[in-house]
Amino acid sequence: MSDKLIVMERRVYIKTFGCQMNEHDSERMLALLEECGYHETVKWEEADLILVNTCTVREKPEQKAYSIVGRFQQIKKNNPDAIIGIAGCVAQQRGEELLARIPALDFVLGPGKIYKLPEILHEMHKGMRGVCTVGFENGCPTNLPIPHTQQLRAYVTIMQGCDNFCSYCIVPSVRGRERSRPSGEILAEIHALVQRGTKEVTLLGQNVNSYANNTPRELTFPQLLAKIDEIPGLERIRFTTSHPKDLTEEIIEAFGQLKHLCEHFHLPFQAGSNAVLERMNRGHTREEYLAKTKKLREAAPQISITADVMVGFPGEGEEDFLQTLKLMRQVEFDGLFSFKYSPRKGTRAAQWRDDCTSEVKQRRLEILQELQRGITLKKNKELEGTAKEVLVEGRSRNSPHTMKGRTRCNRIVNFPGGSELVGELVTVKITEGLQNSLRGGRCG
Ligand code: 5AD
Ligand code: SF4
Repeated sequence: MSDKLIVMERRVYIKTFGCQMNEHDSERMLALLEECGYHETVKWEEADLILVNTCTVREKPEQKAYSIVGRFQQIKKNNPDAIIGIAGCVAQQRGEELLARIPALDFVLGPGKIYKLPEILHEMHKGMRGVCTVGFENGCPTNLPIPHTQQLRAYVTIMQGCDNFCSYCIVPSVRGRERSRPSGEILAEIHALVQRGTKEVTLLGQNVNSYANNTPRELTFPQLLAKIDEIPGLERIRFTTSHPKDLTEEIIEAFGQLKHLCEHFHLPFQAGSNAVLERMNRGHTREEYLAKTKKLREAAPQISITADVMVGFPGEGEEDFLQTLKLMRQVEFDGLFSFKYSPRKGTRAAQWRDDCTSEVKQRRLEILQELQRGITLKKNKELEGTAKEVLVEGRSRNSPHTMKGRTRCNRIVNFPGGSELVGELVTVKITEGLQNSLRGGRCG
């Protein structure tokens, strides 16, 4: 390869930790980088730019991000001009401190400043190093280039930030206050995506249910859903994440009414004990949570309900933990993301004694996950014999003659078929419910 080509063809390796917002931010950063002449590589060893998009919501992903940057810095031995950047929530939270802590680090970029990436790289190419760009002052422009990775299924940000201040959560300080994107811009982006072949959109935000709550004269969240439902060519609408206290009757009713709204609701409950919920500053009780999930199932009997839960919050006793298990049995979640509480500096709960030992947290997590595995399998088995609409995503990893797709209720289905089906909606009769997926065969 000639020197000239090496200069023209810059390669970027992006490692992403955390939630779908981060995944989407990585896609958007990649789209910006492509406009600056970068191509994505899956081998960090051959990259000219390494970008680590970090998460700080729990201790584990933050520690992982530090250790991976430690490994990546070896790249400078062979390629001293290589650039290493940290983006995401750790960048926003720690800022300049990271540059002092990690000498090989060249820049720090907060999630509210993604649009500055081309400018920063321009400076880096001129030899500048040690740049820190964080904060939310001007709001991040949301009309950045649409990532080409978004095809059949795409993410669309509808709001950013969170005003809830759950006592354990660092998100409000690293993602800022709630800002909703104008509905006109959201609708235009979805129209553009559909033109390029998108069949399913997932509306993203820390708290999508409170979309435009602080923006008078804007559409409400259910009104926005109704407008999106009318976009010709769009087959499926999903959204995440929601807060129980903002889940209104109108949103619940939308499930019985909007043709393209998929029957899946991710509704974190965090704990089953009212005393713990109160200390978490969640703004809802277990009874309210149970009533809302019951209503969701009445409005859409097929609906799949998933959630986030934590064990070992300060002061969580055995009785409180039993309340969590009881709530799980009552709701019968279709899937559950479960975490051990870890104190995050700057949150209210971090001032309280982290009094559950790591052994207690581990034991509670194992009991909870065992219970959930049984419920998930039971629910998957209940689907045996039913016919499900499946959006075909691609070939299954295990066999070239098996295709993989997703039901409206967000379960993965593997079934015999060819790649001509990719992007199609097909009907599959479910023959087997497994722990993490379903198996079936096409009907008709
Ligand atoms: N410790 C453990 N889990 C946490 N989460 C948020 N903050 C913490 C914390 N300090 C979990 C919650 C949230 C999910 C994204 O991460 O369950 O819904
Ligand atoms: Fe964090 Fe609570 Fe906001 Fe969710 S609702 S992002 S848990 S503060």
